[in-house]
Amino acid sequence: MSLYAPQNQQAIDVRLRPATVADAPMLAAWDREPHVIACSSDDAEAEVAFGGEIDWTDELGSSAYELDYRIAEVEGRPVGVLAICDPHTEPSHYWGEIEPNLRAIDIWIGPKEWLNRGVGTVMMSRIIDECFAAPEVTGIVIDPLNSNVAAHRFYRRLGFVAEGRRMFEDDDCLVHRLTRTDWEKGA
Ligand SMILES: CC(C)(COP(=O)(O)OP(=O)(O)OC[C@H]1O[C@@H](n2cnc3c(N)ncnc32)[C@H](O)[C@@H]1OP(=O)(O)O)[C@@H](O)C(=O)NCCC(=O)NCCS
Repeated sequence: MSLYAPQNQQAIDVRLRPATVADAPMLAAWDREPHVIACSSDDAEAEVAFGGEIDWTDELGSSAYELDYRIAEVEGRPVGVLAICDPHTEPSHYWGEIEPNLRAIDIWIGPKEWLNRGVGTVMMSRIIDECFAAPEVTGIVIDPLNSNVAAHRFYRRLGFVAEGRRMFEDDDCLVHRLTRTDWEKGA
């Protein structure tokens, strides 16, 4: 695990498993959690995350999206989700023109009672190590909203560096990147 993880905290036993279509109702329910809505849009009136555009049954059932979804479980209870892709080849070209050999990651904790208990740090540390285990991967990018200062703090503690603001459609984001070089310094 990365040395960027907070010290002096009891290790939390987090299992990562692939998401399946059976997780779709749970993910749809998490999309209605205020903290998940808030991380996906600055629209204070939004009632569902990601503009309500994600049909989770479709998203998890079709390999066409090329996103690798993982569910984090603690003591058998699902508590969070990770989405990993190659932003250069991802078919929707969400990231636009971007170099090859990167990974893009998204993360959110579902049940609010699991926020700020160290789960996200374990999830990210583990997936970062997994991404860099592929020798061709040179960096990892993430796109928190510019307003999501708690997420910026979280990512910076993991070694990510802010690269600059960027609009993704209507979303004002502050792109962060963790380079392999920086990861190797901290690993
Ligand atoms: C961002 C997110 C994924 C982080 O996951 P998390 O499990 O809450 O993260 P952690 O608990 O590991 O770390 C968060 C904070 O809790 C603190 N913390 C961790 N374990 C703790 C513990 N046992 N006791 C007290 N505090 C703890 C960390 O030090 C950290 O402090 P900080 O606010 O100063 O950075 C989560 O907060 C989340 O889902 N937020 C909403 C969605 C979101 O913003 N996603 C990112 C979109 S880009």
